[in-house]
Amino acid sequence: MRRDIEPFFAPRAVAVVGASRTPGKIGHEILRNIKLSGFRGNIFPVNPNYGSVLDLPCYRTLADVPSDVDLALIAVPAKLVEGVVGDCVRKRVKSAIIITSGFSEVGRRDLEDRLVSMAKGKMRIIGPNTFGVYCARSSMNATFGPTKVLEGKTAFITQSGALGLALMDWTTEEKYGVSAIVSIGNKADVDDADLVEYFADDPSTSSILIYMEGLKDGRRFFEAARRAVRRKPMVVIKAGRSARGAQAASSHTGSIAGQDAIFAAAFQQAGAMRAEGMTQAFDWIQALNENPVPKGENVVVVTNGGGLGVLSTDRCEMLGLKLMDLSDDLTKQVQDVTPSFGSAKNPIDLTANADDLLYGEVLRLIMRRREVDAVIALFCQTANIDPGLVARAIVDARDKEGLDKPITAAFVGGRMSQMAYEKMLERRFAAYPTAERAVDGMNALMTRHRQLKSFGKGGR
Ligand code: ACO
Repeated sequence: MRRDIEPFFAPRAVAVVGASRTPGKIGHEILRNIKLSGFRGNIFPVNPNYGSVLDLPCYRTLADVPSDVDLALIAVPAKLVEGVVGDCVRKRVKSAIIITSGFSEVGRRDLEDRLVSMAKGKMRIIGPNTFGVYCARSSMNATFGPTKVLEGKTAFITQSGALGLALMDWTTEEKYGVSAIVSIGNKADVDDADLVEYFADDPSTSSILIYMEGLKDGRRFFEAARRAVRRKPMVVIKAGRSARGAQAASSHTGSIAGQDAIFAAAFQQAGAMRAEGMTQAFDWIQALNENPVPKGENVVVVTNGGGLGVLSTDRCEMLGLKLMDLSDDLTKQVQDVTPSFGSAKNPIDLTANADDLLYGEVLRLIMRRREVDAVIALFCQTANIDPGLVARAIVDARDKEGLDKPITAAFVGGRMSQMAYEKMLERRFAAYPTAERAVDGMNALMTRHRQLKSFGKGGR
């Protein structure tokens, strides 16, 4: 475990410098979130103007805090930050998150460099220009974002503050659970490589998701990524693909986006899965988090609509997913329970009359088979079948027969289908609103299977 990074995520005592009594002020919101998130360590507001803030004793300066401090959150105007960093170093604070903007992103790298050299060898710094850090393991929401965050298995490192703040809301709305969120800001000191190394070792994190615009030390990052991928999957959204996008990244975070082809090759070599955008990245992460990695490449698709079967077959072919030929006896077993006008060939078409009982029965038959490595279940909303019941049957089949096999699902249709797959998400099932996305999710799992195989792990 990176001991220098640990105090950011598991501090015993946190100080908020610039804590305010005024709701809406950043120093107020951060303190409020730390308090409300159930953080079990000590919390020390620091502000020369108050005796207490949010019912906690408040201190004039860091020096007055009657305890060691592992993490300081700094939310005072830019011109005061250097003084506060000096106070932190004198108090031997182990880590600091500088929320304040107004440094290299507005051309003042000199100010930022000064902070880093003051802290060098004594304290690590995240930021400046960040919204903070959330860590599920410590029940600590040290951000000025939404208070409630859904706990899960993914560590999300983001160079864009706004995206990170949006994701905090999504965690509860879209059921994307996170083990940690780090707004990495200007990366004056702690950078992606430090965090990747830390989360590779973190037992509460099972996948790593990064939004990045640029890297200062590409070699170090790709080395860290290569090592981390041997232990857990990593998905990267690298913005600035196009020339104009690269320009936008440069004016957003001062990043040099670099030549996209070079990044693409380096991600590939390191084994980081590069997503095209947010939707794809979260689809992959969801499939990876909620499923075991397949032991082989044999995929079976089950659907109630011929069209969905064809679409998903095309997508599988395009991505290199192998729809297996079913053995004669499995074909016969499926045939025995499906209508004569259906198809017992892969993709298996149960026809539009297929109800929850038929889905459950066929999925159980397939999942019991040793030669089947992965299943994609697709449902098209029809007039007479309740999508909610089918969704329940699919999750039950997974829970009963398929815990060692990955399965993704799509529920295509209106409001009832949406409600059905949302219920599946609540039961920790990788479900999507389109067949293509369910196939994409499975493709991420198959990519992981091939990676593990190349490391000599996994397989039947
Ligand atoms: N020690 C402790 N507290 C102090 C000190 C000190 N030395 N000096 C001043 N304070 C207090 C102030 O009294 C004030 O609290 P009060 O008004 O309740 O008494 C508090 O610190 C904050 O100081 P203000 O001057 O009121 O500054 P303000 O809160 O307006 O702004 C901030 C400070 C938020 C850090 C601002 O400068 C800033 O950088 N804002 C942008 C932050 C940001 O967006 N970061 C990037 C996130 S990523 C994203 O959002 C997309």
